[in-house]
Amino acid sequence: MNKDQQRKEKKAEDLGSHAAEVRRGEDRSFVIGISIIAAMAGLLFGYDTGVISGALLFLKKDFALGTGMQEIVTSIVLVGAVIGAASGGWMTDKFGRRKSIFIIAILFVGGAIWTSLAPTVGWLIIGRFIVGFAIGVGSFTGPLYISEVAPPSVRGSLVSINQLMITFGILVSYGVDFALAGGGAWRWMFALAAIPGFILAVGMLFLPTSARWLVRMNRKEEARKVLQRVRKVQDVQKELDQISELEKLQRESKGVLREKWVRPALVVGIGLAIFQQITGINTIIYYGPTIFQFAGIASASSDIFAELIVGAVNFLMTIVALILIDRVGRRPLLLWGLVGMTISLIVLGLAFLYSGTGNTLGYVAIACLIVYIGSFAVGLGPVFWLLISEIYPLRVRGRASGIATIFNWGFNLLVTLTFLSLTQWIGRPETFWVYAFFGVVTWFFVYFLVPETKGHTLEDIEKFWRSEKPAREM
Ligand code: BGC
Repeated sequence: MNKDQQRKEKKAEDLGSHAAEVRRGEDRSFVIGISIIAAMAGLLFGYDTGVISGALLFLKKDFALGTGMQEIVTSIVLVGAVIGAASGGWMTDKFGRRKSIFIIAILFVGGAIWTSLAPTVGWLIIGRFIVGFAIGVGSFTGPLYISEVAPPSVRGSLVSINQLMITFGILVSYGVDFALAGGGAWRWMFALAAIPGFILAVGMLFLPTSARWLVRMNRKEEARKVLQRVRKVQDVQKELDQISELEKLQRESKGVLREKWVRPALVVGIGLAIFQQITGINTIIYYGPTIFQFAGIASASSDIFAELIVGAVNFLMTIVALILIDRVGRRPLLLWGLVGMTISLIVLGLAFLYSGTGNTLGYVAIACLIVYIGSFAVGLGPVFWLLISEIYPLRVRGRASGIATIFNWGFNLLVTLTFLSLTQWIGRPETFWVYAFFGVVTWFFVYFLVPETKGHTLEDIEKFWRSEKPAREM
């Protein structure tokens, strides 16, 4: 055996034994409960971004909104999310993950009530901005908190509960839109979000503070107690030592974010944040019914129904991701998911190019969107949020994942605002091929730069970056 192999085997042993140790005697029901409550932030993310598509039809009528105003009402939530992501990193590092989530839960409840009572469109826009801000903070703070609480062997599944809740929230919002559309009850559409917001707020009062954040704040004894509570074992010394050791190293270095060894992790997070959006996911989430109309499915109710199917596939395939993510790993899910997304976008473009074949186009479009959303849901959807919660060093974990999140919401805004114009400007097939092209670029990006974090502790991941080896060797 050569030296390189020996080194690799030794590393595998170390990782394996530590992960197994944490696993021994551990009771998972508590961490699963913690994850479900924290993932309410994901449910609100999904619900509050999805609900606007149905509500807009009635807002347009009640407030006599022109196209420009409709665009503002739709996208203000994304503007809020960008600003939330920008402030949330600092907030979670300073006040802690738990307190930050509690604060946004209050904002979610307040924002829901505020928007549901809106007497004018200005009032509505302020309310949607507040909700957007909460979404921006929650979108990465939820996963981050779960990731720090979870044992390594099931961290992928637990963090991905957040993405499952996002897709569930989107699905529920489509269902609510559908059910309430008859009476035009848009106020109720917004108000309902107060319920999960309330559950999140109350839940966070009872959940433990992240042990890793406590170590960072030099509150080691409290950290030990939390670890004993969540791991359900007395001997947590090894895990605590590992966290403290790395924290000490970081304390000694100034400006961790600027250090050379952190750079590849930043590139991975920011890159995936951008690629998750510019491969077109939210054209389908926000404009699904419009795309079905393009494809010649003429009645509004069948468009909404088709969108409900898309929402259901998104949700169901995220469950598949949850089951696979800690078994097959993050990289295979990303790579195969991207293949599915890219092929379905190419075929969708072709279908539009050769339209005029009557009903067939409608069916091909539905089939393509189902394959596309299913492939996103097993790969890029959950894996992006998971990776940014695990690849950064403790000291800057909040800020660094906040930075990636800013890019995610920023590019979401860009794609959402340009989609319809792009279809007019370069054509429908070409628009989908642009997203397909980015799918190919993303595949190579993942293949060469994204590490496999399956089974490693957060501290092992950090040590790996410090060794400055190529990401594919993790
Ligand atoms: C993305 C959102 C998207 C959702 C769809 C998330 O991972 O960040 O932009 O709307 O997935 O399920």
